[in-house]
Amino acid sequence: MSTTSDSSSGAATSQNSFIPLCEPCLRGNEWEYVKECLDTGWVSSVGSFVDRFETGVARYTGVDHAVATVNGTAALHTGLLCVGVEPDDEVLVSTLTFIASANAIRYAGAHPVLIDAEPRFWQMDPNLVEHYLSQECVFKNGILRNRSTGRRVRAIMPVHVLGHPVQMDEIRQLAGKYELAVVEDAAESLGAAYHGNRVGCDGDVTCFSFNGNKTITAGAGGMLVTNNSHVAERARYLTTQAKDDPVEYEHHEVGYNYRLSNVLAALGLAQLEQIDAVIARKREIAATYDSQLNLPGFDWFRESPDVFSTYWLSTAMIDPLSSGTTATALRLGLHEQDVQTRRLWRPMHTNPPYMECQSVLTGVADSIADNSLSFPSSASLTDDDQARVCNAVAALLER
Ligand SMILES: Cc1ncc(COP(=O)(O)O)c(C=O)c1O
Repeated sequence: MSTTSDSSSGAATSQNSFIPLCEPCLRGNEWEYVKECLDTGWVSSVGSFVDRFETGVARYTGVDHAVATVNGTAALHTGLLCVGVEPDDEVLVSTLTFIASANAIRYAGAHPVLIDAEPRFWQMDPNLVEHYLSQECVFKNGILRNRSTGRRVRAIMPVHVLGHPVQMDEIRQLAGKYELAVVEDAAESLGAAYHGNRVGCDGDVTCFSFNGNKTITAGAGGMLVTNNSHVAERARYLTTQAKDDPVEYEHHEVGYNYRLSNVLAALGLAQLEQIDAVIARKREIAATYDSQLNLPGFDWFRESPDVFSTYWLSTAMIDPLSSGTTATALRLGLHEQDVQTRRLWRPMHTNPPYMECQSVLTGVADSIADNSLSFPSSASLTDDDQARVCNAVAALLER
């Protein structure tokens, strides 16, 4: 089996010696809550678990409103529509991301402008954002436009990668200066914090994913969180087929069937109850890799003092010269020993659907993508299994 895709279930066959990259840890009230849905017949897109899951995520992240969706991509698409992104607008997004971020921009009919990563936190580089906005764009009649395409520039989508929060101060400052909305892609980073504030608690719109390999899972699912009641109301409306009347079939707009089912929300709620333990274990796992595999040429992705990373996936940059290996060679070697690891995404500017997009590139994202490797990071990873991973890496390096 393979769980290498971001869209994979992550479910693993842990009865054999296979060590998965990231499998769900289903050890709480999952059975009980799902059974309640089946026993009561509330299995579809309305039900108490949808409400409880939304309230739970809102309370956990410290926001006023949360709207559950079928997946994180749908949350991103809805978020863009809710902040006013329209067809032919431009949205700045990190080139170093999973393709869902860029796809959501295209679903809204807008055009991604790809921004390279900065080397320390791997997030979109605020200096490049500033460069693009100040050099390539101009305010005309109060509207920010791209000088060369003439398109309106409407929003920024920073991506909190691998459980690590974006340094939001710089991004927000630029968004304020250039009157841009911010839609945060925090699919991988529920529970991460910046300056003591949980990701999502002080943004315009933030989106999470509950895909099978995420910090907590609903099997599939997403959530849009915001403090803006109008955005929340609009999100609820758009994700429910833009239904204007609760009884009559009145629709004045094209909406989407994006609401999460009660069964999946039940799973999500049970998972949310365990999130603190899951994150604590992931941080322990990251610290162990950092100390056990503190090898020449291995640079582990670390949090800075002002942030709290969930270390969703423990990841290292592997310098071929000083380590004597490559991320690919290590991945293949570990695969032979039933240890699953994962390369980072190919940056968007190298993917055919997005190759022609306007971009501001420095080569950092390419280098990160070429040389980084994520290691097994399931909260259920045992100490023995992690020792096996570390020993396998050491043996491969000796070879
Ligand atoms: C960075 C990022 N954005 C968006 C998504 C999309 O989430 P989903 O798979 O729930 O649609 C994912 C995960 O799959 C992701 O890793």
